[in-house]
Amino acid sequence: MSVLILDFGSQYTQLIARRMRELSVFSEIKRCDTPFSKELCAKYSAIILSGGPASVTEADAPQFDSAWLRCGLPLLGVCYGMQLLAHLCGGTLEAGNSREYGPSTLEIIASGDNAGQTGQSGEETVSNLFCKVPSSSTVWMSHGDHVVKLPTGFTALARSAGAPFAAMGNASAKQYAVQFHPEVVHSQFGQQILENFITRIAKIPRTWTPGNIVARLTETINSAVPGTNQVLCALSGGVDSTVAAVLASKAIGKRLHCFFVDNGLLRLNEVRDVTQLLHGLGLQVTTIDAAQEFLAALKGVIDPEQKRKIIGRLFVEVFDRHAKKLVGVTHLMQGTLYPDVIESSAVRGPSTTIKTHHNVGGLPERMNLKLLEPFRELFKDEVRAIGRELQVPDRIVARQPFPGPGLAVRILGEVTAERVARLQTADAIVREVVAADPVNKTLWQVFAVLLPVKSVGVMGDGRTYEECIAVRAVTSQDGMTADWAYLPEAVLRTISNRVINEVKGVNRVVLDVSSKPPATIEWE
Ligand code: XMP
Repeated sequence: MSVLILDFGSQYTQLIARRMRELSVFSEIKRCDTPFSKELCAKYSAIILSGGPASVTEADAPQFDSAWLRCGLPLLGVCYGMQLLAHLCGGTLEAGNSREYGPSTLEIIASGDNAGQTGQSGEETVSNLFCKVPSSSTVWMSHGDHVVKLPTGFTALARSAGAPFAAMGNASAKQYAVQFHPEVVHSQFGQQILENFITRIAKIPRTWTPGNIVARLTETINSAVPGTNQVLCALSGGVDSTVAAVLASKAIGKRLHCFFVDNGLLRLNEVRDVTQLLHGLGLQVTTIDAAQEFLAALKGVIDPEQKRKIIGRLFVEVFDRHAKKLVGVTHLMQGTLYPDVIESSAVRGPSTTIKTHHNVGGLPERMNLKLLEPFRELFKDEVRAIGRELQVPDRIVARQPFPGPGLAVRILGEVTAERVARLQTADAIVREVVAADPVNKTLWQVFAVLLPVKSVGVMGDGRTYEECIAVRAVTSQDGMTADWAYLPEAVLRTISNRVINEVKGVNRVVLDVSSKPPATIEWE
């Protein structure tokens, strides 16, 4: 009972997937040129065609298999998806002169497929798609082309200043389309419209709950790893890999073997704390001390991508050395999340690599292992919900994300043992001070960054010439976009005083006020 989202390249496509999850409905994004097949179609209960930057009538418009329109599944076209639906079903589009970008007023036309839905006054005023949506509301538009003649079988459901047909529907075919973006928060009743499509039109039960997800994933792990097959797991002590390990150990017990690599780039006391926590969860964990090896390999390296590649490669080597001692291993488990898959691979064709995401890539081929990634389709908040369902303590579930390459991507310039220790101390202060304030609960991440910038200061009567710490605090829903967070003045004051007084080699603290995009959360 899931939704297929065909992606035509809109920046908002992942938001549609999020909104589906918020409705407790599972969805999958696939490329717009995914060929239709009966087997694939049988997996889904509805289709959403996303927006996209192209123009339907252009020669190089994205490829689309129109058999998806004839397969009988309820369908919702969004923006480009509406134009495509109209075009392929015999409607007419007009390009250009009444573009709409940003907020616009949507007026619902009362002649939809009312199907017995009634407005508050008792008259039939809304279609199924617009049930519980006022006759006038704000929506988010982003289009150049628009529909000027509806295809046969479709009725007009709404209009806006720039689109005479801002929504259309064909009740008997269960095909609907909106010119605006219901998935964007600026569309006042957007989520209600999506809910109407899911529950009233597609009639999909809202069963994608943590309890059901755990049951389904346990089954998946059990059938993927039958008999006496053994599974390796690279544990970082972070939310994703830890919750994945707890889930797998419930499914396959002692056939799961976890390794926790101390690469010397972890936070203050993290090796000790994480090892204790993992043992407390009943996991079989081996902690490997490889700190010197990592630091030696990073000597003299300042390029961020090179750092990431060196760490990734070494991680595989260290892991490989230890894992080879085990017998009967067939799978490698990772806590890969959906945003990792989208950001670092090619859901929508070749995309620019912004950062090489560090995981144990390379290991499966080298050791001839199959990958087990139970959270590949999930967002972080869903993994947290699964963790709570599995009774993983809040100390782990509520942990902030920490990048695989560790402090190396927060130490700008060369990574040395001295600079790691400097950042560890500063970072522990920043996190401790923020944790004591209610603002902590609102943050996605807060940490310190060590800059390779020296500046002049005065301490006591003496001149100093030392490095600088940047404080990075962000709010975010899934790490894909983020806003810099407003830390209270008293918190900033305490951080600044403590870092400058307590961290040797630092004489200045600055605050990072950059959002993502255009910045990223980590500095490298
Ligand atoms: P950026 O810096 O790309 O980070 O805005 C987005 C989120 O991902 C985390 N991050 C990583 N996580 N391996 C990970 O497991 C990595 O290589 C990596 N790089 C960044 C980052 O902390 C933030 O939450």
